[in-house]
Amino acid sequence: MRKIIMAANWKMNKTSTEVNAFLESLKKIELNKEREVVVCPPFLYLPLLKDSGIKYGGQNMHWEEEGAYTGEISANMLKDLGCEYVILGHSERRQYNKETDKKINMKVKQAIKSGLIPIFCLGESEKQQEEGKTQEIIRNQLEKGLKGITDYTSIVVAYEPIWAIGTGKTATPEQAQEVHAEIRKIVGEETSILYGGSVKPDNIKELMEKEDIDGGLIGGASLDPQDFAKIVNF
Ligand code: PGA
Repeated sequence: MRKIIMAANWKMNKTSTEVNAFLESLKKIELNKEREVVVCPPFLYLPLLKDSGIKYGGQNMHWEEEGAYTGEISANMLKDLGCEYVILGHSERRQYNKETDKKINMKVKQAIKSGLIPIFCLGESEKQQEEGKTQEIIRNQLEKGLKGITDYTSIVVAYEPIWAIGTGKTATPEQAQEVHAEIRKIVGEETSILYGGSVKPDNIKELMEKEDIDGGLIGGASLDPQDFAKIVNF
């Protein structure tokens, strides 16, 4: 279902003490109840979110249900810990872990089968953007990553231009809207499409004013409870 979602992607950051401190601070701030707030910490810290009242999810999972996959985490394990969401196909995993569209597609299917909502990430590189290939890349990633998916209401899409992740360079609201509108043509009106890439308290409002931007996937700025709360309450 389409709604405003602010999802924190903590990546490989924080210790258990820091996670608890974050939750303590966040508890003291009133968050807009109309907005879906999701935190995706490293796997180990998922249980710390259990009674926090905040929704949470994994940053990745394996595509198989179970078995001999040393070091991996399954969709059912995430469900078991109370996760509602899972980030899939993040560009850092595509780049450093060589995740292909095909593998990501298998993960998306497994997540849905297990009752998790995949936050399916896509985005173009700086070179692709300079060459004017953004729309083509996005369409391609959508087609391959969501192959066989017929019900788009069970997923969330996150557009994250790679050149904007962790760089301080945000896509302009117009640039983001253009891509979101293209994604919307494929996934329809009932799917939340998030923007990610250097989202900060001072640029979220103008991004959210755009018709097809339904929220954010936030890295760096989500590590700080005050900044994250400002983004949620934009
Ligand atoms: P950033 O990361 O907000 O630090 O740019 C976003 C992401 O990678 O999800």
